[in-house]
Amino acid sequence: MTDEENLDADGDLGFTPAVVDNAGRAAASPATRRRRAGFRRRAASLAVLVGALTAVGGGYAMLAPSSGADDSTMTSADIEAGRQLYNNSCITCHGANLEGIAGRGPTIVGTGSADVYFQVSTGRMPAPVQGAWELRKVPKFNEKETLQLGAFVQSKGGGPEVPAADANLRGGPEELGEGGELFRLNCASCHGATGHGAPLSAGKIAPDLYRSTDRQLYTAMQVGPENMPVFANNQITPEQKRAIIGYVQAMKESKDPGGAGLGRIGPVAEGLVIWTAGLGVLMVSILWIGARL
Ligand code: HEC
Ligand code: HEC
Repeated sequence: MTDEENLDADGDLGFTPAVVDNAGRAAASPATRRRRAGFRRRAASLAVLVGALTAVGGGYAMLAPSSGADDSTMTSADIEAGRQLYNNSCITCHGANLEGIAGRGPTIVGTGSADVYFQVSTGRMPAPVQGAWELRKVPKFNEKETLQLGAFVQSKGGGPEVPAADANLRGGPEELGEGGELFRLNCASCHGATGHGAPLSAGKIAPDLYRSTDRQLYTAMQVGPENMPVFANNQITPEQKRAIIGYVQAMKESKDPGGAGLGRIGPVAEGLVIWTAGLGVLMVSILWIGARL
């Protein structure tokens, strides 16, 4: 076997890696021994690499900030805080016992924390004294206050509950096909094939879905605001709702002009961090392996 053929046998990467040193090659005589040594070297460096990358990933996961406020459990203090907020901002239209006030607002007994979350987080409620309620606006309350309001309304009359903050509401890439199918069947007729929104009859509008968060999409399906039908769990299961949300958010992201949407710090940005850190570790391990040989 010539040296050139040996190179090819060693170089199943298609190139000669920098860690395959010429000294080792010249010293060893039988080709098989050299190949085995090469294999062991590669296996060792691979182990180092995998170990290092796992350490980086694990370290990052430990250091990464958790997904915001922990609002999965509402205490009686939260309900009380919700009552205060309600008395200040909602009672004039919905009444002291959520029973509604003629000419101002409907009863919201049994609308549940899901409906309150949808209405308040999208800025629809509290409604202006007069005007287009169906329009999305800048929300008046922060996430915590919104959930407190919901907890209060929930405590008075029950109803569909807003999903917990740590609930995974977005289906993965493997469910995109199913999500797209369900979206075209159930949502596209009003919100358009790409979720851009469309006018409905009688001057109503199905808004675009580009600004909706996972939780807003989920609660919208739970409660069916205005002309939108309710999509109960026996019509569209929670799993299917997640698939739809995954599809809508994927459409939204593919609409971003060019590159990663830096405004939405999410999986892409995290992946970038791991990638960058991983590259650094890679360089260090290559240098380290090189130095040892
Ligand atoms: C100025 C009056 C007004 C105020 C203030 C107001 N609402 Fe409303 N609310 C309405 C009206 C009118 C509707 C019906 C809107 C519609 O049909 O689009 C409504 C609808 C709702 C619904 C949906 C009811 C359903 O049947 O689905 C919820 C939930 C709700 N409001 C919660 C609140 C909360 C919580 C607040 C306080 C943060 C609030 N509202 C403040 C007038 C008001
Ligand atoms: C019959 C028409 C219709 C269908 C079908 C429909 N929607 Fe809607 N949707 C509406 C209307 C009308 C509104 C505005 C309601 C309001 O403002 O109170 C709306 C609002 C929404 C919003 C709130 C957007 C915002 O501006 O905050 C979301 C999210 C949403 N829909 C998701 C969906 C999803 C997901 C589906 C399919 C599972 C769906 N809708 C099916 C008519 C429809």
